[in-house]
Amino acid sequence: MSDNDHYKITPTGHSTTGSGAPAQSDRNSLTIGADGPIVLQDVHFLEQMAHFNREKVPERQPHAKGAGAFGTFETTEDVSRYTKASLFQKGASTDMLARFSTVAGEMGSPDTWRDVRGFSLKFYTDEGNYDLVGNNTPIFFVRDPMKFPHFIRSQKRLPDSGLRDNHMQWDFWTNNPESAHQVTYLMGVRGLPRTWRHMNGYGSHTYMWVNADGERFWVKYHFHTEQGMEFFTNEEAAAMSGADADFHRRDLFDAIGRGEHPSWIMSVQVMPYEEGKTYRLNPFDLTKTWPHADYPLIRVGKMTLNRNPENFFAQIEQAAFSPGNTVPGIGLSPDKMLQGRAFAYADAQRNRIGVNFHQLPVNQPKVPVNTYMFDGQMAYHHTGNAPVYVPNSGDRPWADEEGPMDDGWEADGEMVRSAYNLRPDDDDFSQPGTLVRDVFDDEERAKLVDQVAASLSGVREPVLGRAFEYWKNIDGDVGARIEDKVRSADM
Ligand code: HEM
Repeated sequence: MSDNDHYKITPTGHSTTGSGAPAQSDRNSLTIGADGPIVLQDVHFLEQMAHFNREKVPERQPHAKGAGAFGTFETTEDVSRYTKASLFQKGASTDMLARFSTVAGEMGSPDTWRDVRGFSLKFYTDEGNYDLVGNNTPIFFVRDPMKFPHFIRSQKRLPDSGLRDNHMQWDFWTNNPESAHQVTYLMGVRGLPRTWRHMNGYGSHTYMWVNADGERFWVKYHFHTEQGMEFFTNEEAAAMSGADADFHRRDLFDAIGRGEHPSWIMSVQVMPYEEGKTYRLNPFDLTKTWPHADYPLIRVGKMTLNRNPENFFAQIEQAAFSPGNTVPGIGLSPDKMLQGRAFAYADAQRNRIGVNFHQLPVNQPKVPVNTYMFDGQMAYHHTGNAPVYVPNSGDRPWADEEGPMDDGWEADGEMVRSAYNLRPDDDDFSQPGTLVRDVFDDEERAKLVDQVAASLSGVREPVLGRAFEYWKNIDGDVGARIEDKVRSADM
């Protein structure tokens, strides 16, 4: 009998108490006479009440509303000259889990609010779990993790009314001009995907890949949807928020249920390690993309989602993704945001799910685990009577690497609190300006103007004036059109 078979439902028999004894009734509590009071010895009733009061875990602080599915990642190309990671060797096929989400909305919020979408992947590799926790955009709003809690608070709710607030959002963005690239992306057509199946995904950060000879590379991940990109207009999205707040969740579940398995092609941009030191923009700045002319896409493989969860709570709500979960051949980078995230996620999960969240089936690696993290609430797996300390004179192995790490990098300098050192192309407005002028067409620019003007509704001075300046810095013409539209609507 497997661990979960005890809990498989059979159509015969009866319900049990939590301790497995036959329950007496799920319909009538135990009373003194039909009209009399309930007795304290109705243990089954008390257990039902008490468990019900505890059956929610805190929702994720950001990215609360989401859903996901299981699938497979197949490496179709030979990228062994860049990484030794076993999951990215040609022919490898790896089980995986994906979760998609909105950022700011709470658990019950509509799927179709304009927002960035989360794109979380967990690969159950034969070297341990590898998590890639990205978004549907290749960049982000800020470049120092110190700002992240403030950013999320500004997108959530006002302290007095509990309402979301355009003024607060724009106050944050205009006080942090490095947000311009991501805000342009968000306010453009790609800021409102029609479904999760019809959007791209990005690792967003720069990560390190290391090959079998110890050569290091900087990489950025891209997942291009094979369903084609499709978007909602504001009007369509608003109507859908009312008609079906769970539209994205339903779309994915139903499509997989019908046997339509969505897929994405994974490619990487690869920068040789040494070029990272001298490239004309800081390759670790999360507010920048790498021009494809300099670093073209190299195809790696394909991800297909083909299995719905059997139980949303156990397999999606309790899923724990962390950018800190890497495997040999893949490392982090000097991106400060990524370093902040390497701590934040597992800490959130210790609070949200419990200290032994790794032991839950959805989070368990599919390889043998030899961890010296012991006990704590809900400890389930254990190592019997094996030594609990290191170094030990028994036969329990432990890790003992010394010297330079194969996925490390050099750093020196004084201890400072500072933005990254500026490189020649490191300004906040060039890349969003290129997006507006060279990527968007006339119709998309017109939609951008409409969308930004709508989002400035309710924004007061001095933030409003700063917002016009922010857009004029991105593109003079678009900025002037936004100001005209907002000012004329005011009259
Ligand atoms: C320093 C910056 C950041 C911090 C401190 C941070 C922190 C968090 C935390 C605490 C969670 C909830 C985790 C949980 O309860 O399981 C979360 C979720 C998430 N974050 Fe971040 N985040 C940061 C930046 C980013 C960036 C840059 C991206 C994308 C490139 C991102 C994508 C996500 C996604 C997709 C989820 C949902 C994970 C899931 O599906 O379970 N975050 N973040």
